[in-house]
Amino acid sequence: MNEFSKLIKTRRTVRRFLPDKISMDILTDLADCARLAPSASNRQPLAFHIIQKEDLLEPVFQTLSWAGYIRPRGTPREGEKPTAYIVVLYNKKFQETAIRQDAGAAIQNILLAAWSYGIGSCWIGTVNRDELAKVIKLPEDYTIGSVIALGYPAESPVIEESEQTVRYYKDENNVLHVPKKPLKSILFVD
Ligand SMILES: Cc1cc2nc3c(=O)[nH]c(=O)nc-3n(C[C@H](O)[C@H](O)[C@H](O)COP(=O)(O)O)c2cc1C
Repeated sequence: MNEFSKLIKTRRTVRRFLPDKISMDILTDLADCARLAPSASNRQPLAFHIIQKEDLLEPVFQTLSWAGYIRPRGTPREGEKPTAYIVVLYNKKFQETAIRQDAGAAIQNILLAAWSYGIGSCWIGTVNRDELAKVIKLPEDYTIGSVIALGYPAESPVIEESEQTVRYYKDENNVLHVPKKPLKSILFVD
């Protein structure tokens, strides 16, 4: 295992954050990493909206749905909410293309680059898009894809190998356990 594969394997979804702010330089670098992701036919149909202003954080938070398997326990509590977001936008001109695949590649770049800075993240697909569009004053020519919640982590989730369940859970110490299928159960060779 080299350093980069270690970075990939130790990244976990984080839903409890410290109040420390992420610098604008780092947030911009995360968007830049997203920009350089692979893109079908190199169409580059995505745009990225950084949210970090204090008075926008709570309105954005209110449009997001957290940790479906353990709701409401998995929702960040007061004082542990994300300190920034990157909203991934779809340019309406490109709706027919492989836009979701492009977004997946770009978002994974954000999650991994964030983790390389010691920043935790949560990819959020369950979003009240109509409300969020109002909050961020979404321009006419874009729709909202996903939201990436960001912040320095206040928790360290752990993985456990399981073929029985995909449901993550919290133990009595509030530690998040994330089941992952064992490699041998999903890997075919020759
Ligand atoms: C497409 C997609 C949508 C997701 N949507 C949500 C969401 O709406 N809310 C949430 O709390 N987590 C969401 N997640 C995070 C997953 O719950 C998380 O990745 C999964 O539990 C595995 O944990 P890990 O990222 O630590 O490996 C989403 C992840 C993906 C890839």
